[in-house]
Amino acid sequence: MNEEYAVKGGHPLVGDVVVSGAKNAALGIIAAAAMADEPVTIENLPYVSDIKVLVQAIQAIGAVVTWHDMHTVTIDGSTISNFCVDNEYIRKIRASYYLLGALLGKHRSVEVAFPGGCNIGSRPIDQHIKGFEALGARVNIAHGMIAVRADDLNGCHIYFDVSSVGATINIMLAASLSKGKTILENVAKEPHVVDVANFLNSMGAKVKGAGTDVIRIEGVERLHGATYSIIPDMIEAGTYMVAAAATKGDVLIKNVIPKHLEAISAKLVEIGCEVEEFDDAVRVIAKKRLGHTHVKTLPYPGFPTDMQPQITTLLAISEGTSVVTESIFENRFKFTDELARMGSVIKIEGNTAIVDGVSGLTGAKMLAPDLRAGAALVIAALSGEGVSEIRNIEFIERGYETFDVKLSALGADIKKIPVDDENELRKFILKAV
Ligand code: EPZ
Repeated sequence: MNEEYAVKGGHPLVGDVVVSGAKNAALGIIAAAAMADEPVTIENLPYVSDIKVLVQAIQAIGAVVTWHDMHTVTIDGSTISNFCVDNEYIRKIRASYYLLGALLGKHRSVEVAFPGGCNIGSRPIDQHIKGFEALGARVNIAHGMIAVRADDLNGCHIYFDVSSVGATINIMLAASLSKGKTILENVAKEPHVVDVANFLNSMGAKVKGAGTDVIRIEGVERLHGATYSIIPDMIEAGTYMVAAAATKGDVLIKNVIPKHLEAISAKLVEIGCEVEEFDDAVRVIAKKRLGHTHVKTLPYPGFPTDMQPQITTLLAISEGTSVVTESIFENRFKFTDELARMGSVIKIEGNTAIVDGVSGLTGAKMLAPDLRAGAALVIAALSGEGVSEIRNIEFIERGYETFDVKLSALGADIKKIPVDDENELRKFILKAV
């Protein structure tokens, strides 16, 4: 059934919310699990659609998958016998490309449907290809498929032209089962890169330096079984932090690593929020209308591009003029056209948004253009006056586990209803909170 979020704005978010496991770490980890010769158990998986699609894809090529509960899965990749991955769902996700690195490393041959993913700009994979070729593989792209094959994979020295999360993880996977030593320079330092490296090491790989600019990998012959718990999702946490700020709320966000949130916390403090840090939680309190600032997205530890739509939305209702520069993906301001329906005043010039804060937004019908922008529109709707409808929520559900349920528990008036069901919408509008 095609569903949308109906949101009645104006309620401050108050209470506790528990963050799920990191989606972008989990995607790399699931692919890496397929490389082991023995069963691997992964805990703290976020139960979101991108994860389900990737798990189903490795099951379809022969892995034995056992779900223990919504967040724990055992994957036995030793039975994988088919190295061609293609179906209508896998074509829509980005992380399908991790199966290239994983299956190339383990089986020296793989074919995967060309990766899809959120439409946030041009998303080249030249750095992945450069890495595979440097390890000794041949890459062929034809008829919507990428085939990567090698007689042998040998350690090498790669200097990435850009800091890429995907390319860093992909080459780390393949190099873990290559012969000899690989040195990767100018790598991505995101916490999810470190988590995938830690997971590989828990299976017997020898990956050193993840989280710094240089990763050194000593290839091993095989990977053994392991049990591993995924780190908390910093973007999900950041999204609730901004939602608390935008609704003038008071929210304790639990199961986080505060260090991963520093860039987000610093911006919130700068514009007048209170942010308290605990060992594995942060509390965000906003008592008044917040102020303006400048934000530029950068690779970690800079301000994350995956938080840009959310912070832009917050600045759209804060006092004064803010400037937001998107330096990672050029197409990530599309959602501002939707936000304008609620009364925001944002001018886009190239990769910069000039945000003139308005005193409040009013409910409107909007289309989520992608995952994070979809979350940002929900934040706008929660902070605004009146009822909003947000469609295309399948994008949001790719990466936020039970978003509506977690928000409702914080006091938000949000309900998933069938699209174009006037009756359900009327019931929602008339319902007293
Ligand atoms: C990952 O995408 C995430 N996706 C994205 O999360 C996230 O926005 C992005 O990293 C940046 O943090 C997954 O982990 C599945 P990149 P990825 O390679 O790996 C350029 C979300 O909302 N580049 O780090 O595709 C690229 O164009 C999503 O959860 C090349 O030029 O991003 C971009 O400008 C959306 N050549 C920059 O590098 C390449 O071969 C960073 O991209 C690869 C990338």
